[in-house]
Amino acid sequence: MGEKITLSVIKADIGSLAGHHKVHPDTMLAATRVLADAKKNGLLIDYYVTAVGDDLQLIMTHKKGTDNKEIHGTAWNAFEEAAKVAKDLGLYAAGQDLLSSSFSGNVRGMGPGVAEMEFNERPAEPIVVFMADKTEPGAFNLPLYKIFADPFNTAGLVIDPRMHDGFIFTVLDVYEGKAIDFNIPQDLYDLLALIGTPSRYVVKFVHRKDGEIASVISSERLSLIAGKYIGKDDPVMIVRAQSGFPALGEILEPFSFPHLVEGWMRGSHTGPLMPVGIKDAKMTRFDGPPRVAALGFNIKNGNLIGPSDLFDDVAYDETRRQAQIIAEYMRRHGPFMPHRLGPEDMEYTTLPDVLKKLEKRFRPFELGYKPKLRHELEEL
Ligand code: F6R
Ligand code: MG
Ligand code: MG
Repeated sequence: MGEKITLSVIKADIGSLAGHHKVHPDTMLAATRVLADAKKNGLLIDYYVTAVGDDLQLIMTHKKGTDNKEIHGTAWNAFEEAAKVAKDLGLYAAGQDLLSSSFSGNVRGMGPGVAEMEFNERPAEPIVVFMADKTEPGAFNLPLYKIFADPFNTAGLVIDPRMHDGFIFTVLDVYEGKAIDFNIPQDLYDLLALIGTPSRYVVKFVHRKDGEIASVISSERLSLIAGKYIGKDDPVMIVRAQSGFPALGEILEPFSFPHLVEGWMRGSHTGPLMPVGIKDAKMTRFDGPPRVAALGFNIKNGNLIGPSDLFDDVAYDETRRQAQIIAEYMRRHGPFMPHRLGPEDMEYTTLPDVLKKLEKRFRPFELGYKPKLRHELEEL
C-alpha cells in the first residue's frame, strides 16, 4: 500500500462571461495563483484548475485528509481572488456562490460544492473527475447505479472476482440531513426506491465491501443552504478506476445515455445530460443543455498525471446528437411540465412570488364536490 493521499475537488460559480455561460480565463488564473502558492508552501502536493460552464473547478491533492481547514481555506481564498477579478471585469453574477463574507473553517455550507476522498495510493491510481453544470447532485444517481450496481453496464460485477461481492451505497436525504447505507446487490430495490427521487435522495459515497472508497459526490444544495434559489447545485464526482474498481470504460459507459436531469434554464427545467469535452463545456441553448465533462488522471505520489479529456471523443458524438434531439423535444413543451419542474422543486425559485401575486385574484368556485387532498386522506 502506498501513502495516504487526499483528493479534493471543490467548485464554485464566482461569476462568468456573457451571462451564466462560461468561466473567464482571468478568473481561472487568479485561482491558479493561490493554488500555486499553496503548492510552493507544501500544503498542496499538486493541483489542476479547470472550468465547466460557469463553474470554476479546483482539483487538489494533499495529505491533510478530508474537511481540512487549511485546504478549504485555500480553496476559499482561490474563489475570493477569482471573484475579485470577476468583479473587476464586470462578469455576470460575480461572487454568486460565495454565500458568506468570511471563511468559517469549512467551505461546505458556504456555497461551493465539495467532493473529497482519502485513500492509500495504489501503485497505479487511475481516477476520473466528473463535473456537471446546470444540474444537481442527484444527476449522478443514475450513472452511479449503472457503474456500481448494474451488470448490464459493468461486466466486472459478473466476471471480476474482486468486484463480485458488490458495493455499499451511502445515500443522503438532503432535506432532512440523514444518511443510509445500502448493501448492493442485496438491497438493490430499496436503493432504487430512494435514488429515483434525485432531488431529495443523493448518493454521497460508494465503498467496496472491504471498506475501500470507490466514489464520492458533492451533495451541497445551494437553495437549501440559502433558503432561496441562487443557482443550481452543479455537482462534481470522483470515481476510482481499474483493478478491483470498475474499468474506465465501465465508468464512462452510463454517460452514453443522455438521461433527463433537473436544472437547465433557471434551475427549473428537465433536460438531457450531454457529455462534452472541456472545449464544449459552455452553456448556450436555453442556458444549457445540462452538460458533464470528465477528466481522467493517474495519481502518482500525490501528483496529478494528465488529464485526459474523456468525453472529447467521437465515441460520444451519437450521445450528443441524441441529447440535441431530446433537448429539442423537451423545449417544445415551453412552460409546461414535465419540461418545467413540478411545484415541489420550484419551491425556491421566483415562481412562488408570481403565484402569491395571483392569490388576491382567485375567487370561490363551486366544484360540485369537496376535493379530498392527499394529506387529508392520510389523516383519515
Ligand atoms: C441556472 C442558471 C441560469 C440562470 C438564468 C437567469 O442554473 O444559472 O439558467 O438561472 O440565466 O439568471 P438571472 O436571474 O441571473 O438573470
Ligand atoms: Mg451562474
Ligand atoms: Mg453553474
